[in-house]
Amino acid sequence: MLTIGVLISGRGSNLQAIIDAAARGEITGRIAVVISNKADAYGLERARKAGIEAMCIPSKGKSRSEFERELAEALESRGVELVCLAGFMRVLTPYFIRRFKRQIINIHPALLPSFPGENAQGQAFDYGVKVTGCTVHFVDEGVDTGQVILQIPVELREDDTAETLSARILEQEHKAFPRAIQLFAEGRLQVVGRKVRVLPGKKQQNG
Ligand code: GRF
Repeated sequence: MLTIGVLISGRGSNLQAIIDAAARGEITGRIAVVISNKADAYGLERARKAGIEAMCIPSKGKSRSEFERELAEALESRGVELVCLAGFMRVLTPYFIRRFKRQIINIHPALLPSFPGENAQGQAFDYGVKVTGCTVHFVDEGVDTGQVILQIPVELREDDTAETLSARILEQEHKAFPRAIQLFAEGRLQVVGRKVRVLPGKKQQNG
């Protein structure tokens, strides 16, 4: 069973989707720890309610390398094999990325490579695109530049506001993230250069 660590900074609705999917048996993994860099992140509460170890490692008042060393040690000491960034609002340095090579995935609320960075939903809305969505991708040393694992499109409606659009994207995020985690857990993600090949599952192989 895959040992998962989830990093958050805020409300943790994606974390909740992962917790719920695991409880339904849709993720064959165990969330060993949830770590926030903000003490008041509501996601910590969600983790505790689900009986998952929740801890805050503040990023404020220390150097990046100090923060990341603490983070890495907390994850490694719990045997974490997959690090999920679920609304974690810190850019990780190459030191951390290399320490967890191809073991970090992130959810982004746009169809990458369009609209990387913050407020991706607002960026897409203001640009006037007709379709946006969400992306789960491996984390590399750039900002939202890692290989794409899966994407779900969301069409804009004439009466959309940035808020209604964000809400519909979020619904899809809650499907995409657990699905990507399960593909990882099943060992079905094969990275070849920029591409992630999704290998067939057991059921598909048996016809
Ligand atoms: C989500 O929109 C996610 O795509 C982005 O940050 C937001 C986190 O929301 N990276 P939540 O904390 O999971 O509710």
